[in-house]
Amino acid sequence: MRLRGWCKIQGYWDAYRGGTHRPEGVLRLGLHRGSKPASISEFRSVFVNFVVGINGTGEEVTKLVTTLNDGKVTSPDAVEVVVSPPFVFLPLVKSSLRSDFHVAAQNCWVKKGGAYTGEISAEMLVNLDIPWVILGHSERRALLGESNEFVGDKVAYAVSKGLKVIACVGETLEQRESGATTEVVSAQTKAIADRISDWTNVVVAYEPVWAIGTGKVATPAQAQEVHSELRKWLQKNVSAEVAESTRIIYGGSVNGANSKELAAQPDVDGFLVGGASLKTRPCDDLVNSVDLPEFVDIINAATV
Ligand code: PGA
Repeated sequence: MRLRGWCKIQGYWDAYRGGTHRPEGVLRLGLHRGSKPASISEFRSVFVNFVVGINGTGEEVTKLVTTLNDGKVTSPDAVEVVVSPPFVFLPLVKSSLRSDFHVAAQNCWVKKGGAYTGEISAEMLVNLDIPWVILGHSERRALLGESNEFVGDKVAYAVSKGLKVIACVGETLEQRESGATTEVVSAQTKAIADRISDWTNVVVAYEPVWAIGTGKVATPAQAQEVHSELRKWLQKNVSAEVAESTRIIYGGSVNGANSKELAAQPDVDGFLVGGASLKTRPCDDLVNSVDLPEFVDIINAATV
């Protein structure tokens, strides 16, 4: 990761996973940092997502927020953290989260609110002052049948309402093994590019489906290769400026241990973190030994 103008941490509780491949109670976070950019590439941010349990109660959510609030991370000027709980916990998290961290929704409806029972509109998020939304996560694409075009429509509508979007793309294992990775992520990106002209408020999250919640992280070289392809695609099909300034973050089994090497890749601008977001590791300080949350390591890795 090159020095960025800012990087962002994005967190959300996952409302769909049953805990089969991910510990319950995970929260996604993203981070961004803010030093004075000297060139356009330094405007690129870093994004990390933390996923917190689908069975979370209000008490559990409060506990998780307390952990985040107590985390000693780089100053807010350097790192921005965004937490994305399920919809029902958004107000609670928003009101109790430290002021230098922000919140995001995990999804929103594709057009203006109306008779779409069970959906949450972009307008509602704006009304609640929720700045970010995650769209096109692979689970929604796979389990809920969201097509590239539908995700593109969602991104366009959310952006038009002033929301900032984390747009997820990524290939399945089968697609990777058949050599179709670039084609798949390019098509997913194209469906978005066809529908928006302003990329300022869009972060692309590259999440290989085979790496999400599996413990099988992409190697730094694999991640860099796809990020670089995505940037080339943006350069060729959108503009050099958008290619240079758009943050492309990596997601899929990121943890405190592998985040540093991934972050060192020039086109990896941050992370989308699920399972590791609320894990802890033993403190190095044996005298005052307390377990430390991994998200602190991940944030710090992303800012090197
Ligand atoms: P993971 O999750 O970090 O547990 O692989 C990533 C995600 O949920 O998108």
